Amino acid sequence: MNHQSLAAHWMPFTPNKGYRAQPRMLTGAKGMYWTTDDRRQVLDMTAGLWCCNAGHGHPHIAEAIAQQAKTLDYAPCFGFGHPLSFELSERLARLAPGNLNKVFYTNSGSESVETALKMALAYHHARGQAGRQLFIGRERGYHGVNFGGISVGGITNNYKAFGQWLPVDHLSHTQDLALNAFSRGLPLHGGVEKANELERLIRLHDASRIAAVIIEPITGAGGVLPPPVGYLKRIREICDQHGILLIFDEVICGFGRTGEPFASQTFDVLPDIMTTAKGLTNGAAPMGAVFAGDHIYEAVVDDAGPGVEFFHGYTYSAHPLACAAAMATLDVYEQGGLFRRGAAGGDIASYFEQGLHSLKGLPGVIDIRNYALIAAVEFEPQAGKPGASGAQVQTAAWEQGMMLRSLGDAIAMSPPLIIEKHHVDQTIGILERSIRQLFG
Ligand SMILES: Cc1ncc(COP(=O)(O)O)c(C=O)c1O
Repeated sequence: MNHQSLAAHWMPFTPNKGYRAQPRMLTGAKGMYWTTDDRRQVLDMTAGLWCCNAGHGHPHIAEAIAQQAKTLDYAPCFGFGHPLSFELSERLARLAPGNLNKVFYTNSGSESVETALKMALAYHHARGQAGRQLFIGRERGYHGVNFGGISVGGITNNYKAFGQWLPVDHLSHTQDLALNAFSRGLPLHGGVEKANELERLIRLHDASRIAAVIIEPITGAGGVLPPPVGYLKRIREICDQHGILLIFDEVICGFGRTGEPFASQTFDVLPDIMTTAKGLTNGAAPMGAVFAGDHIYEAVVDDAGPGVEFFHGYTYSAHPLACAAAMATLDVYEQGGLFRRGAAGGDIASYFEQGLHSLKGLPGVIDIRNYALIAAVEFEPQAGKPGASGAQVQTAAWEQGMMLRSLGDAIAMSPPLIIEKHHVDQTIGILERSIRQLFG
């Protein structure tokens, strides 16, 4: 492909001009590796975009999608249905914690977030509290790119050109390098104090105006920030005291990233609504799922009059190919015991953690943090070029055969849960060389 043939595709979250000058082209993928157009094998330390938790090209998933395409390629889901989506929903509800028994399908994490925000508003409206319209998000939170998501999100670049169109306020992020640098697992300090900030926001806005708090159990795109000990439980307590719903955005954490199907189970905090996508289909088909508590469904659906109860949905909600991909993905997770491989303290997660933290002391490294197989290495900002280090380390690693995610002055990793020790060794070697290349 020449540069001209790359001109028509306006790429998302990409420096388009830079890409055309130095394209990075993926042409195949199997297991832990990508194949590139110059026939290199590149280790995938990001599971694509945090989605291919079972690794790439799994034959069972591919076969399920192919079969479904031949049987029922599409079924409208407004007023009609197909058996697979009901089967999948039963299965997902069994996997989900507590009373999160109702599953609403979308096509992406962003759509899951919009759906969850609307569910929260519909719940309060149905209960005669339509004044509850304000959402509390969190600084550095990422909730996708639609207007609701960028409003509750806390990443400035994602909304500065577009505005924040929902009534919102934001909690502070939870990173505190002075207290918690080089944490292994959950940071130990400051969790309850950070969570108590929610009380200040409630005093400021008044609980009667607040619909929901939306947070990621582990901040992902905002820099990989596991919640400090006690933080999530305290947020739940405060929400309960004030009739405020709690939404966990588990688009990244869901489907095994923390050792259980969902982070709410790992951290033992039950939200009212939970958003998912990505790992649901192992990235093989676009699909998201929003899990709502029984109380949400009762208020919005059971207690409503006749007719459509929730004026929301997508042409491709519960798409048959995506349902088939999700069913097969759940088989693969179960049969491979993959969720447990993402558990903190497990064999592979401990090996990864050990290797990663051995990089402490390298020039330029100001923090290394991880929860099991989710990790970030943060670099000292370079004079005059804040936020550039992550992309530079990413490029150095790419040239040596490894894909990382760059997040400002950090790089993030979230490998497929099939990772083995030799992949970890390869990772640590490439990382060390890449960091030394940049920082000397
Ligand atoms: C926590 C979270 N929410 C929402 C999204 C948006 O998902 P999508 O890109 O599928 O719209 C992401 C994507 O990374 C995410 O990490």
